[in-house]
Amino acid sequence: MARIDLRVNLGKLHLRNPTLLAAGILGLTGASLRRVWDAGAGAVVTKSVSLKPVEGYPGPRVVQVRGGLLNAMGLSNPGIKTILEEIKIAKKGGATVIGSVFGENEKEFVDVVKEIGRADIDAVELNLSCPHFETLLTMGQDPKLTKKIVKEVKKETKIPVWVKLPGNTHIPNLMKVAKSAEVAGVDAITISNTIPAMVLDLEAERAVLGHEVGGLSGPAIKPISMRLVYELFKTVKIPIIGSGGIITPEDAIEFLVAGASAVQIGTGIMYRGLEIFNEVCTGIQSFMEKKGLEEVSEITGLAHST
Ligand SMILES: Cc1cc2nc3c(=O)[nH]c(=O)nc-3n(C[C@H](O)[C@H](O)[C@H](O)COP(=O)(O)O)c2cc1C
Repeated sequence: MARIDLRVNLGKLHLRNPTLLAAGILGLTGASLRRVWDAGAGAVVTKSVSLKPVEGYPGPRVVQVRGGLLNAMGLSNPGIKTILEEIKIAKKGGATVIGSVFGENEKEFVDVVKEIGRADIDAVELNLSCPHFETLLTMGQDPKLTKKIVKEVKKETKIPVWVKLPGNTHIPNLMKVAKSAEVAGVDAITISNTIPAMVLDLEAERAVLGHEVGGLSGPAIKPISMRLVYELFKTVKIPIIGSGGIITPEDAIEFLVAGASAVQIGTGIMYRGLEIFNEVCTGIQSFMEKKGLEEVSEITGLAHST
């Protein structure tokens, strides 16, 4: 097969192909980020990090379920200082690195973005799937708060800023959140994070996870995330990065057709190993060849063309 160019532009950021490692999987060390880059990912996203270390929820934290994984990590992470060193290792290996960050309020978001910017990252992804204690929603379900956080962060950095939105948002509200992020100047939107869910141990008559409720990922959520990408494409003009249940090349292509400019892969690594990045890229090339397309961007939003 003739070599087809898979490069994509996400705003000002250029990626060698449209497959990214999703936050939270193999994203804590420079060595693991490099492994994923060397396996063919177009970019790698770090585990979400905060200013200070976070211990997270009690175990069990991850359980395999039919159709995917259920996890309740509680955003555990070693804090920004440690991850800075790890990012430098990944960057030395040539990787395009996206720093995923979170905070409890806009000030913490600004501070953590400033810190992670010192590691020469290529973009930051604001994980807005954290709880917001005043509204009892996650931050990314609150249009005003989303706008405030993006505005403040954009004022303080030249690095491209993405937001990652939760998957448990009802559509009219999600559109408001996405619009408010776009108006505030965000460069791209990743959708979706995991979907709230739980699993019971019948013998113990208790929830399996230490935190009882967790986030579902993997093939079970693909149609939900797909719909969110599809709806978002009708609402915003900025690039969308699809995430949720990609394990085959066709899954990834469907996300592009629905409106994504790139995709993130997390749980799929458990199903396919790191080979998944090459498999998806080869599948996208075959699709483009079959359809006579020259650029990946020509696939984006095909489902919306008349
Ligand atoms: C074990 C685990 C940890 C995760 N940690 C994070 C995280 O730190 N930050 C984040 O934004 N998303 C996190 N996610 C969500 C993934 O990045 C991804 O958006 C989600 O799992 C859906 O994609 P997938 O079905 O390909 O895994 C995590 C997912 C899993 C399974």
